[in-house]
Amino acid sequence: MDAADQVLVVGQVARDLVLRVDEVPGEREAVPARQRLEMLGGKGANQAVALAQLGVPVALLGVVGDDAVADDLLARARDDGIDVSPVVRRAGTRTGLIVSLLDSGGRWRYVEDLPGPVLLTEDDVLLAARPARCTVAQLQQPSAAVLAAVRQATGLVVVDGAPPDDGRRDAILAAAHVLRADAREAGMLTGAELADPETAVRAARDVQRTHDLAMVAFGYDGGDVFAWRGGSLVATHGDAEVVDTTGAGDALTAGLTAELVRGSDPQQAAELGVAAAAATVGHAGGRPRLTHLRRKETTRRGTR
Ligand SMILES: Nc1ncnc2c1ncn2[C@@H]1O[C@H](COP(=O)(O)OP(=O)(O)O)[C@@H](O)[C@H]1O
Ligand SMILES: [Mg+2]
Repeated sequence: MDAADQVLVVGQVARDLVLRVDEVPGEREAVPARQRLEMLGGKGANQAVALAQLGVPVALLGVVGDDAVADDLLARARDDGIDVSPVVRRAGTRTGLIVSLLDSGGRWRYVEDLPGPVLLTEDDVLLAARPARCTVAQLQQPSAAVLAAVRQATGLVVVDGAPPDDGRRDAILAAAHVLRADAREAGMLTGAELADPETAVRAARDVQRTHDLAMVAFGYDGGDVFAWRGGSLVATHGDAEVVDTTGAGDALTAGLTAELVRGSDPQQAAELGVAAAAATVGHAGGRPRLTHLRRKETTRRGTR
């Protein structure tokens, strides 16, 4: 696969350990795990898995350590159809670990072991420079690395998260075409609480216009909104059971991206994003399950 045809996801790779409990134990209490899941995780890997499941050629740029966990995670990513050749294996570093305690009410608590060396540096990004049809960068990575990634991008640029206000924010937004933020991140970015769809659409529209982004997607309390040049869409959450929201935003970002790289319009992109998020909240863990949303390729036959 030619790198120029791939989506390059720039973000975190980690081992995910999800423990489902009826209730999180208090001090000096022990509870049994009702379910235990150990998966390839981290937001970067989850987005890359989602794109692969949606039929989009994808490569991943993130950092793992030089331990056996890294071997296992990279093998799993390859099995998922992800090109892991850009992944950095950092000597003397342990691969990141995210433990999620998930209770029966869908409330999660994460304990993260993400030592500094498992974050991307500007040099990591510069050394991995390659053409890509689209770059998806996670704003949870250090902003110098994110800025390098979006500056060297050759195609569509999608960013996910809240850009920290550290002097690089405007440059990152200026290089991005699409921004996606959950409710908390959108609040950090806009300084407003997005409590209802009207406020959320207005905030997304303001950011879209002010930063000349092609599309902005914000979560709000109760749904997700999308604003693009010439249109907007409000999606309210359905009433299906929510087991775990972890990874739903990553699935949403991947769904959006999958349609945009196919040349679909923003409305179709938003719709696939919403469907991908909804398909992710029904199960524990951030690993997406989106193969049912993969578009059937229509065979084109020449017509005379
Ligand atoms: N009941 C629900 N149905 C569908 N989507 C939901 C529901 N509850 C939350 N979501 C969506 O889950 C997503 C969570 O996003 P985010 O916090 O970025 O997750 P992560 O970073 O773990 O992927 C949001 O887009 C939110 O709208
Ligand atoms: Mg998110």
